[in-house]
Amino acid sequence: MSKPDQTTHFGFRDVPLAGKQTLVNDVFHSVASRYDLMNDLMSMGLHRVWKDIMINTLNPPRGEAPFALLDVAGGTGDIAFRAADASGAGFRATVCDINQDMLNVGRERAIARHLYDRVSFVEGNAETLAFRDRSFDGYTIAFGIRNVPRIDLALKEAFRVLKVGGRFLCLEFSSVDVPGLDRLYDLFSFKVIPPLGRVVTGDAESYQYLVESIRRFAKPTAFADMIRAAGFSRVSWHRLSGGIVALHSGWRL
Ligand SMILES: C[S@@+](CC[C@H](N)C(=O)[O-])C[C@H]1O[C@@H](n2cnc3c(N)ncnc32)[C@H](O)[C@@H]1O
Repeated sequence: MSKPDQTTHFGFRDVPLAGKQTLVNDVFHSVASRYDLMNDLMSMGLHRVWKDIMINTLNPPRGEAPFALLDVAGGTGDIAFRAADASGAGFRATVCDINQDMLNVGRERAIARHLYDRVSFVEGNAETLAFRDRSFDGYTIAFGIRNVPRIDLALKEAFRVLKVGGRFLCLEFSSVDVPGLDRLYDLFSFKVIPPLGRVVTGDAESYQYLVESIRRFAKPTAFADMIRAAGFSRVSWHRLSGGIVALHSGWRL
């Protein structure tokens, strides 16, 4: 249980730890219906490449072998759909997200893709998952962990619900340190993304939060330490696109 006076950050603002989740929920409530379109526009399609790299790394079985994936902060289902497309008849995914608006978009997309029997949607908090110990072969979280107020709890929950031999994969924005690209990236982030958010979703503030929250997220080495502290083994990470994002991996062994 957190103490009432504990604080955390919401973008560049310091906020009470207990209040962050409500602010995050407001962001995704506001942008849910145009979330996927904004992802394409903001990343110029690159988020698709990053997500495909995550699925290739997960490498779910292509045959009949059973494989249960839990995609946390799964939002509109992108990771689960890509994993389902890449795998065989034994594959099942559960998309867990705290926000019903995002899940509702995901459910509609699953019906349109005829994936509703292989991908299910469950409302839940990454910090307190309502799943049994050791029940999943894979746990993925894409662009979600930095929104979770108590990241250490979410990582412990990831470890708890994975089977022994199961893999944790986290795709998250990281820090660009390629000279030249860093300045261009900052310019694009702060001068282009919030105004673009205003035009597409009518909400610049949510996208201001997005770019600020990226800057406040832990550096890859520090995040890797947190993954280790949750119990994971063979922890590693790879920078993608000059460090715009990083793919973190750990195993429950
Ligand atoms: C940037 S979206 C990522 C969606 C999807 N994974 C993707 O890559 O397109 C972040 C998601 O995290 C969810 N989220 C935020 N806090 C959460 C929490 N504590 N537990 C579960 N989901 C959470 C939000 O509702 C939102 O859908």
